Amino acid sequence: MHRKKLIAGNWKMNKTASDGVVLTRELIAALGRETSVDVVLCPPFTALESVGRALEGHALKLGAQNMHAEKSGAFTGEISAEMLRGLFVTHVILGHSERRTYNAETDASINQKVLAALAHQLKPILCVGETLAERESGATLAVVQRHVERGLQGVTPEQMGACIIAYEPVWAIGTGKVATTAQAQEVHAFIRELLTKLYGAPLAQKVRILYGGSMKPANAPELLAAPDIDGGLIGGAALEAKSFIELVRAAAAR
Ligand code: 13P
Repeated sequence: MHRKKLIAGNWKMNKTASDGVVLTRELIAALGRETSVDVVLCPPFTALESVGRALEGHALKLGAQNMHAEKSGAFTGEISAEMLRGLFVTHVILGHSERRTYNAETDASINQKVLAALAHQLKPILCVGETLAERESGATLAVVQRHVERGLQGVTPEQMGACIIAYEPVWAIGTGKVATTAQAQEVHAFIRELLTKLYGAPLAQKVRILYGGSMKPANAPELLAAPDIDGGLIGGAALEAKSFIELVRAAAAR
């Protein structure tokens, strides 16, 4: 089954609106005609509009890093799916481990966001993954199973076609400690097996499962060659044009 690779840049809390445009222009100059890989830029909320304008007419897509599950209302400081859609956002990262840790997000609250995103035609990038303590105690697959099953609760087969999963082992995020290809592939294959049980093989074969956690141009070619690794969710290496472009090229070469 051929799945088009997807490389998403999660800028996290980096780049002002104007810095974001500078980076986006550099990326467009190099990747504007790259159609063999899906590329998604996920700047902070404050840069979505300016980055979105810079992307107009190009194949690169715009993603947000979070959103609120409710449509509107008294939720100070929050952003709704409809607001994102108004800025031509197509993707939204949900359940990132940093939000699970620092913002008390739970599988249940993440699931509400996934359902709200889908109801507004946003493609969720659902992040799952174990901590170091969970890996060392042998709980990796159980944790990932819980994140996937609970995160996707109530998602219909039709909606599942729009979902993307990102396996991000917490111990590999921003640490320079990348999962080995074998470690990542094991979990990716497990997620696909799980999706097969939940949604059937034809659909499970179509879902893209990204790897995230210290992915760099040096380790990407090997990771991206694994049968169930369909792209990357990139943090640090997405903040500089050179490394991000190299990552997209590595995906295009697969
Ligand atoms: P790093 O690439 O900086 O490890 O971050 C990965 C990540 O958390 C992407 O969402």
